[in-house]
Amino acid sequence: MTTRNIWRLAKRPVGDIADGDLEFLSEPLPPLAEGQFLLRLTYLSLDPTNRIWMSDMEQYMPPVEIGAGMRGGVCGRVVESRKDGVAVGDLFAGLGEWTDLMVSDGTGLSRLPEIPGIPLAAAFGTLGLVGPTAYFGLLDIGQPKPGETLVVSAAAGGVGQIVGQIGKIKGCKVIGIAGGPAKCAWVVDELGFDACIDYKSQDVGAELDRLAPEGIDINFEQVGGDIMVAVLKRMRWFGRMPLCGLISGYNAVDAAEPPGFWTQMLMRRLTVRGFIVTDFAPRFAESGMALAGWMLEGKLKTRQDIRPGLENAATAVKDLYSGGNFGKLLVEVTPP
Ligand SMILES: NC(=O)c1ccc[n+]([C@@H]2O[C@H](COP(=O)([O-])OP(=O)(O)OC[C@H]3O[C@@H](n4cnc5c(N)ncnc54)[C@H](OP(=O)(O)O)[C@@H]3O)[C@@H](O)[C@H]2O)c1
Repeated sequence: MTTRNIWRLAKRPVGDIADGDLEFLSEPLPPLAEGQFLLRLTYLSLDPTNRIWMSDMEQYMPPVEIGAGMRGGVCGRVVESRKDGVAVGDLFAGLGEWTDLMVSDGTGLSRLPEIPGIPLAAAFGTLGLVGPTAYFGLLDIGQPKPGETLVVSAAAGGVGQIVGQIGKIKGCKVIGIAGGPAKCAWVVDELGFDACIDYKSQDVGAELDRLAPEGIDINFEQVGGDIMVAVLKRMRWFGRMPLCGLISGYNAVDAAEPPGFWTQMLMRRLTVRGFIVTDFAPRFAESGMALAGWMLEGKLKTRQDIRPGLENAATAVKDLYSGGNFGKLLVEVTPP
């Protein structure tokens, strides 16, 4: 009998994810049924939304049930198949579980193309979820125009690093906001952002006044809280705000929305649009082609933060909420 390792949700976190909220188990795997295949996972994507899925709150898909395998973005190769058209060695990516061996009938998965010149971690990490999030959030909702000023928070993270680089490709002045000098230096020196504000040591509002006296046209919002308020106060008329995430509140027990800035949204005619990347799923081929093209041309660099060992997933995920990750956070379940 084959056994697998899996993280299951043992209880819903209150505040930060705590030891014991997720449980690491070794379990026997039943034989495959007709129409199923078995994936050996290569990478597990750790994403801020993992914390949302662990909560029984209003969200864009059902929360993970207590006792269920923890949901996550996965990629892996087929090691056994009883499904027509699926062969051993085929590579799939999509939504799955925090496990090393995953039984699937294909639901929620699609084939991950292997692109010469793009390592699997970058193809999965960038083209899988964070790339389309950056691409559609910025291009469809942000509508960047040459010469405009774009601010992106969580700038050195999975989504933020791509948003800023697409902003530069589109001719914007790009100001990142990130935690710490190493992250700020990287987005400016390596990725070509025009500037980056270290919100942990600098006054975000004063730095925005200095760096963008003309005001801000696009706020690609990923953080919320005081950082969002500082940016919103400096938005220009007819500015746009792709509302991608509000990570500063994900672990809050009692999340409070700061009042006041809604008036500015009205008076300054801002377009604020929340979105979930899956809204754009029918167009993922478009983002995949564009992002891969920019990567192969050397216009888009990506950084992954890869942690070895499925057993470390529950510890690693906590880094997303403290800034302990530097780049798109992945767990290497099996060497590629
Ligand atoms: N709408 C969608 O479909 C969609 C899809 C993917 C991601 N998202 C959202 O996009 C955002 C970024 O996701 P990601 O996957 O790219 O993660 P990420 O940026 O790689 O990691 C999260 C980063 O957020 C920053 N952060 C955490 N707590 C913070 C706080 N209290 N204040 C300021 N910054 C904080 C940290 O960077 P620093 O070190 O710079 O603080 C951390 O590294 C999240 O809000 C996520 O929920 C949305």
